[in-house]
Amino acid sequence: MAKTKKSWEKRLSGGPDEMAMNFVESLSYDVRLYKYDIQGSIAHAKMLSEEGLIEEGEFDVIKAGLLEVQEDIEAGRLEFDIVYEDIHMAIEAALVEKTGDIGRKLHTGRSRNDQVATDMRLWMRDEIDTLVAKIKKLQLAFVELAGKYTDSLMPAYTHLQRAQPIVIAAYLLSFVEQFSRDVKRLGNCREILNVSPLGSGAVAGSTLPLNRQSVAEKLGFSDITYNSIDSVSDRDFCAEFIFATTLVMTHLSKLAEDFILYSSTEFGFIKTSDKYCTSSSMMPQKRNPDMLELIRGKSGSVFGSLTAMLMIMKAQPSTYNRDLQEDKLHMFNAADVASSCVEMATGIVSNTEFRVERIAENLDDGFLDATSLAEYLVKKGVPFREAHGIVGGLVALCEKREIKLSELTIDEFHAASKAIEQDVFDSLGAENVVREYSSTGAAGASQAKERIAYWKSELS
Ligand code: ARG
Repeated sequence: MAKTKKSWEKRLSGGPDEMAMNFVESLSYDVRLYKYDIQGSIAHAKMLSEEGLIEEGEFDVIKAGLLEVQEDIEAGRLEFDIVYEDIHMAIEAALVEKTGDIGRKLHTGRSRNDQVATDMRLWMRDEIDTLVAKIKKLQLAFVELAGKYTDSLMPAYTHLQRAQPIVIAAYLLSFVEQFSRDVKRLGNCREILNVSPLGSGAVAGSTLPLNRQSVAEKLGFSDITYNSIDSVSDRDFCAEFIFATTLVMTHLSKLAEDFILYSSTEFGFIKTSDKYCTSSSMMPQKRNPDMLELIRGKSGSVFGSLTAMLMIMKAQPSTYNRDLQEDKLHMFNAADVASSCVEMATGIVSNTEFRVERIAENLDDGFLDATSLAEYLVKKGVPFREAHGIVGGLVALCEKREIKLSELTIDEFHAASKAIEQDVFDSLGAENVVREYSSTGAAGASQAKERIAYWKSELS
């Protein structure tokens, strides 16, 4: 195919050399914006025809040509040449190949600067919708798993030390809450980015009577941007999107860390599916949680992308600079890693079993009922600070004798506090404690069941 000349070949003497060509190109990765580039171009061309800047018939030719280019790309028929630098130029060149002079009118009143900013926003809108749908599936997997364990107990940890007993469902639901904030954050990001920069041109807009509002409507944007200088360089939405995915990865990485620990012989809390484990080339007994480790490991690259994005943005002079081309690498990376990790986590969560009996075996180790004993004293009229001290003393005593609080006699309790009566034994032991949780959002069975019902209707 004879190469269509780039319009600036008259301005610059000779093209960049091969090394520079390879250095400057983004086609190798921004090719994935092709659909959005074509969508934007069709809307732009339609507006040009409506405003009399091109003939209606010319719009028809441009539209048909662009759709053909799209088919060519999708059928793998279009051979991209990096001499065109990026997807915008490559598509325009392919259009000109097909339509000649009419295709040359497409770029009227437009620059790649407002074009790329538009493409990215269109891409990100879809990407957010897809990612949110995946996160909701993950949430549903947690809710379903939680449904199996509303009455089974486990210890909750703070500082990785045994803290208080909880129902397993409450632990699982804690992730549903985390991911619900991610969904909201991505939604906010989508709302903020959903404005059309098209018509901002290279930096100062255009002397042509462009109807920006009409292009925005055609592309489903809720509004247009109102400052051309800002419009061509604003990548806040990009940083924000990457930040939102960073938090998704933070939550996933914490989940991975928990599940890795919980599946160890030392904890023995869960059994993950063989599907998501690997073995060792040397140690025949091994069952390694590699997928979880990879989720934890891959999160690093998204955090890296966030830092990179902010660094790309921070020291550029106003307005568009080629530095910005690098943004796409990071927004794609963040989206791809988050997306695949959310899917992987969904598979893992859906195929995990809690070893309820194994957990129950030593559930009463570690004084999980100490806090509830202090609250028992509060209910008997003892000020909490005093109760805290009394229970602390009892725990120290039990620790010395290697017994549980529930193994103390009523006389020993009496010696510590006159407020303690025979009914104290109803407040001791993990089972009793969990049954007594009464505050909203507490980690008991009734609260978990309520929340499961809420999430089921919310997520379906
Ligand atoms: N590939 C470029 C980017 O991603 C498109 C914009 C190029 N604009 C320019 N003035 N060279 O940023």
